[in-house]
Amino acid sequence: MTDPTIVILTGAGVSAESGLATFRDNNGLWCNHRVEDVATPEAFVRNPSLVHEFYNQRRAQLKEAHPNAAHLALAQLASQWNGRVFVVTQNVDDLHDRAALIHSGGKLWHMHGELHKARCSASDEVFDWDVDMTVDTPCPCCQKAGRLRPHIVWFGEMPLYMGMIQHVLAECDLFISIGTSGNVYPAAGFVREARMNRKAHTVEINMEPSSGHSLFHEGIYGPATQTVPAYVERILAGEII
Ligand code: OAD
Repeated sequence: MTDPTIVILTGAGVSAESGLATFRDNNGLWCNHRVEDVATPEAFVRNPSLVHEFYNQRRAQLKEAHPNAAHLALAQLASQWNGRVFVVTQNVDDLHDRAALIHSGGKLWHMHGELHKARCSASDEVFDWDVDMTVDTPCPCCQKAGRLRPHIVWFGEMPLYMGMIQHVLAECDLFISIGTSGNVYPAAGFVREARMNRKAHTVEINMEPSSGHSLFHEGIYGPATQTVPAYVERILAGEII
């Protein structure tokens, strides 16, 4: 018998109390910016400066943000759980990374990319990146200006790590969705994939019931900095699986 496997999907709600805006809440990022202007490959062709500016601002904001109690609780779970812990995040911030989730023994997959990475659109080579990017920034691999883009999955592009994510969903014992509205696929469909393996207990932890809340066995509602540490405590006490 293998050790119990936990798969956790996180969204913008897990970082909200660190001061980073969500997408669809009041005054969220998509209230003030049109997806078609800043988050599609077509937008980048039409107006690369506007797209760079949007992601430069968001990268700069990360300097002011710090992991909160929910990020830290998930890292604690990864270090103390006797099975495997996989965190699949839709977030492009680095707060799970800075909570030392990977060093704690968990696996972390940024399925929508990372603000702290850049990619050459000609070679697809990916680079660590923590400064502004403009249309004049030379690419580190080919030295050409205009080829670098944020390493972000835009609408119409394939999310990253899908093969590995589907593999762990098919064998997980517990699937937890935290701080996501369930509006964007394929992530919104992960609960169905986890349930197909018949043994997975599925839980939604969010500020309010998401559009897919009825697909979960259990729902816990409130601010992530309170609900996530409390739920992690119950898991580690052996109360859930
Ligand atoms: P959304 O903005 O759609 O949803 C955030 C969810 O977090 C909402 O359901 C809120 O109720 C909840 N929430 C807000 N504050 C919270 C708190 N303090 N504690 C717990 N929950 C809280 O963000 P996502 O679902 O992450 O994709 O959005 C998914 C994707 O849509 C993003 O990755 C992004 C976006 O377009 C791309 O850019 C490709």
